[in-house]
Amino acid sequence: MSPVSSSTQPSGGSHGLHLQDACYNPGVARVLMVSSEAAPLAKTGGLADVVGSLPSALRSFGDEVAVLIPRYGSIELKGARRVYDKLAIYLGAVRYDASIYQAAEEYPVYLLDCPPLYDRKGFYGEAGLDYPDNHIRFAVFARAAFTVARSLFATEIFHCHDWQTGLVPAYLRTASAIDPTFLGVKTLFTIHNLGYQGLFPKSAVADVALDPGVFRPDGMEFYGRLSYLKGGIAFADFLNTVSPAYAREIQTPELGFGLDGALRARADVLTGILNGVDYREWNPETDPLIPANYSAGDLSGKQVCKRSLIEEFGLAPEAMGRPLIGIVSRFAHQKGADLIGEVAGQIVAEDTSLVALGTGDAEYEDMFRRVAAEFPGRVAVRIGFDNGLAHRIEAGADLFLMPSRYEPSGLNQIYSLRYGTVPVVRATGGLDDTIEEDTGFKFAEYSGQALLGAVRAAVGAFSDGEAWRRMMRLGMGKDFSWKASAAAYSALYGRLLGRA
Ligand code: ADP
Ligand code: GLC
Repeated sequence: MSPVSSSTQPSGGSHGLHLQDACYNPGVARVLMVSSEAAPLAKTGGLADVVGSLPSALRSFGDEVAVLIPRYGSIELKGARRVYDKLAIYLGAVRYDASIYQAAEEYPVYLLDCPPLYDRKGFYGEAGLDYPDNHIRFAVFARAAFTVARSLFATEIFHCHDWQTGLVPAYLRTASAIDPTFLGVKTLFTIHNLGYQGLFPKSAVADVALDPGVFRPDGMEFYGRLSYLKGGIAFADFLNTVSPAYAREIQTPELGFGLDGALRARADVLTGILNGVDYREWNPETDPLIPANYSAGDLSGKQVCKRSLIEEFGLAPEAMGRPLIGIVSRFAHQKGADLIGEVAGQIVAEDTSLVALGTGDAEYEDMFRRVAAEFPGRVAVRIGFDNGLAHRIEAGADLFLMPSRYEPSGLNQIYSLRYGTVPVVRATGGLDDTIEEDTGFKFAEYSGQALLGAVRAAVGAFSDGEAWRRMMRLGMGKDFSWKASAAAYSALYGRLLGRA
């Protein structure tokens, strides 16, 4: 094992860093974010946006932050430095050879390179199927976090995100508990989505060399299977979700995905911190990815964006005078596409047009294709992942639709507010926390008719241009930057370290 010497590597050499070296700056925390995604390097959804933008906000509070993600095939190593060579990670007797790179960013972003595990087409699977060795992939990843903490970035808190990192707290409180390097080191586990749990057969316990004692209902067992998410829930020192409403909802049987009991058992260390957004990336005044910039004071550019979006999607030119509904979404059960399928015809009958961008489950992709074929010139869809187009839809649409079954936080409705694109959302989780009566339209019941009712209300409001622009401007003025939420994370770190 050999860390490659580098100027950013604190003292400690190949024998690892000592935590006391790390306490350069009492009152601030040294935090290693462990995540399967971080924008702009690796993104399938909002997790990447959060891990890509929270660190710099935390740095403004003095916290020192590094990020660890896998080096997927799509991540170029150009410009990155190898900072740890010949890293051997053992799961039982099986050895995985890896190295760690550091990307050229304003703070350390470490990339775990182990081509047989991560150099693949997808992050988690291909063609709708999960990779069969995901338990191994994210066990090796968790182990690598300990190497980073020992040798590259003296860590006081592992801030772990979603099931892919649930083994960090689990190993830390079992296998690594006796390692003096980690005495006093704390873990925060952030649940971005309870619907994805990382469930594996019982045999995975041995495959990833977990202490067999974890396989119990108050540990990581979930109805006979091993749950990586429960590794985080059971073993982390503190838990949070990404909105206050969702923190409450996951403790109920309706939205607890079978884990409400496990979460209620930890209610004293579970809180909700609303996601912030990065207005350097999502701001119509400066966005380089949209055809024309605009602001609350001068909305004329938005009409340019609308016209160009209508052309790009091949909608009828009359769409310019109609309310244009935008959708950007993972096409998944969570996101409520089935409701759109149910009432698409009635939505169009309200004299609207609709453009959608998304990718995911084949049944929803097919549904959108069907609706587009049924209403040519009125409805158009692009299947795929396209960041530039996501920005152009935010800018060019009048309304933004998010009829989610559940929504831990949601970022697109927040981006929509800033782009003057009035959100129509189901009142759940972060959607309920961020959209108010005067900035958008909400419906409660999960049904096509309830969604239609909200769309009708929005279309009615759209016809009064002056009132509509007032609503747009009100939304554009809302501030969901990271300031408040990063302060909440920073305070939580301080509390965890006994400094607050
Ligand atoms: P989730 O994380 O559940 O997918 P969020 O609203 O938190 O939902 O975040 C979604 C993020 O992913 C946003 O930045 C959105 O623009 C982006 N996104 C989702 N689907 C696509 C897509 N098909 N193409 C480009 N960006 C997408
Ligand atoms: C998840 C949730 C979404 C949230 C995002 C970032 O993917 O579905 O609501 O905004 O994580 O926290």
